[in-house]
Amino acid sequence: MTLLSPQDMLVVHGGNPLHGEVRVRGAKNLVSKAMVAALLGDGPSRLHNVPRIRDVEVVRGLLELHGVRVRDADGAGDALVLDPANVEQAAVDEINVHAGSSRIPILFCGPLLHRLGQAIIPDLGGCHIGPRPIDFHLQALREFGAVVDKTDAGLQLTAPSGLRGCKLDLPYPSVGATEQVLLTAVMAQGVTELRNAAVEPEIIDLICVLQKMGAIITVHTDRVIEIEGVPRLGGFVHRPIPDRIEAASWAAAALATGGDVTVRGARQVDMMTFLNGFRSVGGAYAVDDAPDPEGGIRFWHPGGELRATAIETAVHPGFMTDWQQPLVVALTQARGLSIVHETVYEQRLGYTTALNQMGATIQVYRDCLGGTPCRFGRRNFTHSAVIAGPAKLNGADLTIPDLRAGFSHLIAALAAEGISRVYGVNLINRGYEDFEAKLAALGAHVDA
Ligand code: EPZ
Repeated sequence: MTLLSPQDMLVVHGGNPLHGEVRVRGAKNLVSKAMVAALLGDGPSRLHNVPRIRDVEVVRGLLELHGVRVRDADGAGDALVLDPANVEQAAVDEINVHAGSSRIPILFCGPLLHRLGQAIIPDLGGCHIGPRPIDFHLQALREFGAVVDKTDAGLQLTAPSGLRGCKLDLPYPSVGATEQVLLTAVMAQGVTELRNAAVEPEIIDLICVLQKMGAIITVHTDRVIEIEGVPRLGGFVHRPIPDRIEAASWAAAALATGGDVTVRGARQVDMMTFLNGFRSVGGAYAVDDAPDPEGGIRFWHPGGELRATAIETAVHPGFMTDWQQPLVVALTQARGLSIVHETVYEQRLGYTTALNQMGATIQVYRDCLGGTPCRFGRRNFTHSAVIAGPAKLNGADLTIPDLRAGFSHLIAALAAEGISRVYGVNLINRGYEDFEAKLAALGAHVDA
């Protein structure tokens, strides 16, 4: 299976509202982690509603290199069966084929240490939205008893005395570091207490996966998670939560183009903060609570002018950083001055240059323009933006810098008058399943 278009460029004829229905499947940021969790089981696991995206392919490739048998359960590409019966150490040169392709490999550390006593992790990839260090991950692994060597070939880890539960307090509620701790602590000896943990819905869903496998995990109030290590875990059968980032991306596309898009599979409970932001700007939505596949959320532009608003990104239950970029495109069409304060990543406003090139008026600032001063204030990171609208967007030649910014470029091109050439669209396949087919189904005028 290849998810790459032969031509890494799309010609977008903008100015047409998107109308119709799309479907979102299992969340990229849960599916990839649940696949890693399967390594810990002593029997096969089955994961349903798996999207055909490149991050899933990368994790599948890495699992297969480590001896996990991965097969499509039903031939329809909907469910994966992952059998870790013959887990083995992969060759370093084979692992390094995946260098730079994703950030998920860092989560192989704990499971491989449990299964094999050692782990080799290739250099990480992922979006260029800040330095994205892994210091919290490595510090936590060392507290569990791992020995970490940084080599030219990547990270090499061993656990000469096994892994033991410990007390950890994250400097920031990092999603990845919380997942690292969960995937390591579930089979470590004794109890682990994690303070200042991230509690995103994808993390709670990963906890559900691990609990199905036999783990004992308690989520206390105030971001404290307690994990009682167990000596063995079994397989799981799981249907992941829907992709709330993709759902919000289509919602923003509907609003920015003056359209009407129903996102089947989207759930209100995962998107409450987004829905508040969407309504403040003047967007309309209606929730259909019917179970998947019928249920979903319809998002539309109700006519009239959109209103300027203020957004501050934050960890859950705040406004997700991944919702910021798509919604800003809609904010270029709102009357007045909107303010965005990005507090999760230090460099997630770079894409605004392309929007300005298309006719938007967005000014970026180093200061914290939100209600809460954040850790990036006075540190030379341009992490706040003021958007003056409404602005007429015109087609332009655009190069996609990262996944979410890439989708925002596409939305801007769809909302703009005239033709845009969008280069680097293959990056979007990392996290948006069949996005070209979905665009066509919504009536977008897009040529490869
Ligand atoms: C996950 O990234 C997601 N990726 C991101 O989605 C998402 O934006 C992010 O969580 C926040 O919700 C995946 O799940 C694969 P973090 P992650 O650790 O885990 C700092 C997308 O487009 N930090 O919560 O890498 C870090 O630099 C992607 O789907 C450290 O300083 O994010 C950042 O400022 C983009 N040291 C902050 O914490 C560390 O060791 C939050 O990062 C780890 C993180």
